[in-house]
Amino acid sequence: MACIKYYMSLLSMAICLTTMAATSSVLASPPAVKAAYWPSSSENFPPSAIKTSLFTHIYYAFLNPSNITYKFEITNSTAILLSNFTTTLHHKTPMVKTLFSIGGGGSDSSLFALIASNPQSRKVFISSALEVARKFGFDGLDLDWEFPKTPKEMHDLGHLFHEWRLAIDNEAKATNQPPLLFTAAVYFSVDFFIDTIYRKYPVDSIIQNLDWVSPMCFDYHGSWDNTTTGAHAALYDPTSNVSTSYGLKSWLRAGVPESKLVMGLPLYGKSWILKESNSNGIGSPAVAIGPGEDGVLVFYEVEEFNKKNGATVIYDLESVSTYSFVGSTWIGYDDPISTTIKIGYAQALGLRGYFFWAVSFDHEWKISTQASRAWILNDWNETP
Ligand SMILES: *[C@@H]1O[C@H](CO)[C@@H](O)[C@H](O)[C@H]1NC(C)=O
Ligand SMILES: *[C@@H]1O[C@H](CO)[C@@H](O)[C@H](O)[C@H]1NC(C)=O
Ligand SMILES: *[C@@H]1O[C@H](CO)[C@@H](O)[C@H](O)[C@H]1NC(C)=O
Ligand SMILES: *[C@@H]1O[C@H](CO)[C@@H](O)[C@H](O)[C@H]1NC(C)=O
Ligand SMILES: *[C@@H]1O[C@H](CO)[C@@H](O)[C@H](O)[C@H]1NC(C)=O
Repeated sequence: MACIKYYMSLLSMAICLTTMAATSSVLASPPAVKAAYWPSSSENFPPSAIKTSLFTHIYYAFLNPSNITYKFEITNSTAILLSNFTTTLHHKTPMVKTLFSIGGGGSDSSLFALIASNPQSRKVFISSALEVARKFGFDGLDLDWEFPKTPKEMHDLGHLFHEWRLAIDNEAKATNQPPLLFTAAVYFSVDFFIDTIYRKYPVDSIIQNLDWVSPMCFDYHGSWDNTTTGAHAALYDPTSNVSTSYGLKSWLRAGVPESKLVMGLPLYGKSWILKESNSNGIGSPAVAIGPGEDGVLVFYEVEEFNKKNGATVIYDLESVSTYSFVGSTWIGYDDPISTTIKIGYAQALGLRGYFFWAVSFDHEWKISTQASRAWILNDWNETP
């Protein structure tokens, strides 16, 4: 119970912080982005299940180009799903914007490298993407290339963005429609500073050509290291730069305007098996990955697990994250409290908004509702 009281005071503190942010810098800023990705493979979670009132933008995840033609070869069943997605969401909440996302974690990174390397393949790919967007009634497009591997690939990405923007503007003029939105999901940091091959995103091209980028502020720890527990989406890490605060600031320091940054938030946790059940904090020794496929449990599964097993739940003030443990099982994740504090942080930085991966992981809308309430900054200019 003491725990609960502590939670409540943190929550009111966060709300208080966001209220203060709201009164200072509202009027000039563009409308807030409250986005989420919808995995098209979501079982038992059709587009009609999305509580659209909590969001401004919903991404269809994912479509991928053919590795032979570099075009989107849409099968009949995918075509039905795409139409259903845009029609259903626009009907439920006409203000909601729909985008489709290209790529994703499971896609072939070298295919994007190939397409981006050559003017002809870029052209074919871009025009196919625009055609798909219009044909199925989308409001925009998103590239989630995970990840460009070399400085040359980053350079090519800059060209791709530039030509893509020209094509979008030309198409909008030619057809007398509003231009398609154009965004990208990117690494949590502007540069890959821990990898052997250092490379940095093409910041000038991003600023000129994209509506915003969405740093994926999660997956800092996971099954690739089964020797210690970790807060996989920590806002702060006192021992390393692999944290959301560092990543977001790296984008700002590189010159990307606040209004073009949308913070990524996970609706899932990562689990480990502890070496000793009484050493159960963040960074405690582990011997294996815990429950869930590859040690990943989505938010509602974490809650079910905690409840069923009577796990102890701790809010960690230092990292701004939540973890739970019972016996030798340990799970690091975000709950409504840690998410709210992160939103307060993003608002204090003046960012454009946030996005969730993925909308179906919070089917009781506990985090999404709290997040939407907490982000009060630009709600006033959102009214039609
Ligand atoms: C294209 O992808 C398929 C399936 O992923 C793979 O079997 C094939 O080798 C790829 N072809 C090329 C030209 O990369
Ligand atoms: C896909 O749809 C088109 C047009 O609606 C139809 O002509 C074609 O036979 C369909 N293909 C398959 C494999 O069902
Ligand atoms: C979308 O698909 C669902 C079933 O999956 C169906 O009930 C609904 O009517 C479809 N909506 C539209 C707009 O086609
Ligand atoms: C974090 O990055 C800064 C420079 O951006 C560097 O000075 C510092 O040593 C780094 N800290 C760690 C723990 O790597
Ligand atoms: C832990 O990870 C290492 C290296 O990836 C792997 O070889 C080992 O099998 C894993 N241990 C367990 C118990 O999963």
